[in-house]
Amino acid sequence: MYQKLNSVIGISIILLLAACGAKGDKTGYEYAPQMYHSVPYEGLSQVMDQSAGQMISNREDGKGEFYNSNPHNPNEMTMRLPPEYTVKRNRYGLLPYNIPKDSLELAARQLKSPLSNDDAVLAEGKELYGRFCTHCHGTSGGGDGLVGQVYMGITPYNSVAVKDKAEGHIYHVITYGKGRMQAHASQLDPMERWKIVRYVQTLQQQ
Ligand code: HEC
Repeated sequence: MYQKLNSVIGISIILLLAACGAKGDKTGYEYAPQMYHSVPYEGLSQVMDQSAGQMISNREDGKGEFYNSNPHNPNEMTMRLPPEYTVKRNRYGLLPYNIPKDSLELAARQLKSPLSNDDAVLAEGKELYGRFCTHCHGTSGGGDGLVGQVYMGITPYNSVAVKDKAEGHIYHVITYGKGRMQAHASQLDPMERWKIVRYVQTLQQQ
């Protein structure tokens, strides 16, 4: 009885040590491959050797398999490469924003808001403005927020310098910052920026 137990422990230790042989491209032994290798094709990982792991599991036994490439696609890749010149869009369907920081005039000329002018957009813009801009620009955009009073030099939105600035101009300033104002692109996603733009437009006219 004890002898049996001893040999089980002995074999387990040997197996355990053998599994430590992983280095370089060799991953070591797997004792429960069906836990690691899914039966369906894997999207990203790729084992192209059809005979891999056959000692433990094969493609027919239904337990899972090592080979997980897709023989029907080029290069046996499960995921297909997108067609050439495919451009990634963000979750709103917008193209990447690639107007450089120093091209404010270009942004002012070219950029058009994808949002309508309705009350819901304005209300959301107002809320975001309250969180991200009021402390400097003040609730009415006069540049007199609590931080603005110390920071100083914040041009009021309804001043001659700013009141006629186009929506693309404001969007670009929020995205990259301007002068002593820092960029806000990391805090606000594109649609949030456009909502704020709508609200700032109402303050420009006050
Ligand atoms: C830390 C303070 C601060 C915060 C926060 C801030 N701004 Fe500014 N903003 C400034 C300063 C300072 C200027 C003047 C920049 C300059 O011309 O040097 C400015 C200028 C502007 C201008 C005028 C740009 C021009 O062409 O003269 C707009 C529009 C503007 N900010 C919008 C926003 C909006 C929208 C937010 C919120 C997302 C915001 N700002 C957040 C400090 C701030």
